[in-house]
Amino acid sequence: MDIATLSATAKALVAPGKGILAADESGGTIKKRFDSISIESTEEHRRDYREMLFTAPGVGDYISGVILFDETIRQQAADGTPLVKVLEDQAIIPGIKVDLGAKPLAQANGETITEGLDGLRERLAEYRSLGARFAKWRATYTITDALPSAYCIDVNAHALARYAALCQEAGIVPIVEPEVLMDGEHTIERAYDVTSNVLDALYEALFLQRVQLEGTLLKPNMVLSGYSCSQQASVSEVAEASVRCYQAKVPSAVPGIMFLSGGQSDELATAHLDAMNRLGDLPWQLSFSYGRALQAPALKAWKGETANVDAGRSAFLHRAKLNSAARSGSYTPDMEKAAS
Ligand code: 13P
Repeated sequence: MDIATLSATAKALVAPGKGILAADESGGTIKKRFDSISIESTEEHRRDYREMLFTAPGVGDYISGVILFDETIRQQAADGTPLVKVLEDQAIIPGIKVDLGAKPLAQANGETITEGLDGLRERLAEYRSLGARFAKWRATYTITDALPSAYCIDVNAHALARYAALCQEAGIVPIVEPEVLMDGEHTIERAYDVTSNVLDALYEALFLQRVQLEGTLLKPNMVLSGYSCSQQASVSEVAEASVRCYQAKVPSAVPGIMFLSGGQSDELATAHLDAMNRLGDLPWQLSFSYGRALQAPALKAWKGETANVDAGRSAFLHRAKLNSAARSGSYTPDMEKAAS
């Protein structure tokens, strides 16, 4: 394993002012997004939409990497240029989602295990030859009074570590994504405890499976109140609880923590990241790897019309720029109104 190269790639992904665009929606998820703008989810529409995002002028100033879906890493832009090359020409590092989704966990009502380990070594070799330099694997955990079970936490940590070890062997930086879901009535304190347990199990499994943390990135949930909780924590409470949790649980050898947005509004996802970075002097970079919180305004502006491509690009660039500002704690809500 060439740990120096892995570590350099991980550091480039968390370069100051930059973060990741998660554009790796599976077939079912992208259909849901297109349904919201009444667009049919055809291969051409999916290509056109993602090409619009990747060709936004200067997007490489704010976006360090893009996570692609299997279909997209093989696709060409309308002019025949591979989409991977379109990204590289913007100085953006291509990445790939390699898990095959969260499936029901046997003997565990309502919990999931993420699948995709069978044949992963061979798939990683192919993805690397197609240009992928980093990968993503997402595990999910539901919070109720009784869940997640220790069983669910344990098997998902094991699978995340097996994935991460195979990635490093293949010369690909693994993004490990344990997502404690934000839906539910739970308090921020409960989210803190569950996230802490999940991170404990994860870093123990990564250690046991000989994963070198300098060549990994963490993509977690923020620690916040469940969306249906009657008591919603403020932006500063979320920032304080999140940073306290990661400081206690995430080793400083990890170059960066890149948050998922998890269904938060675009503005709140940016405000939370900004507030965390204002706390300053942290052992890792704190950045973003947002899907919905980066794409929602672009999708709405585009509406599937060629005539709206420029509007879609500007909406995306604007969101990317605001999250870039949040990297250094220099975002302010009035920037929401400024033209991009
Ligand atoms: P969201 O930011 O929409 O949660 O998506 C990020 C992601 O990649 C989830 O796996």
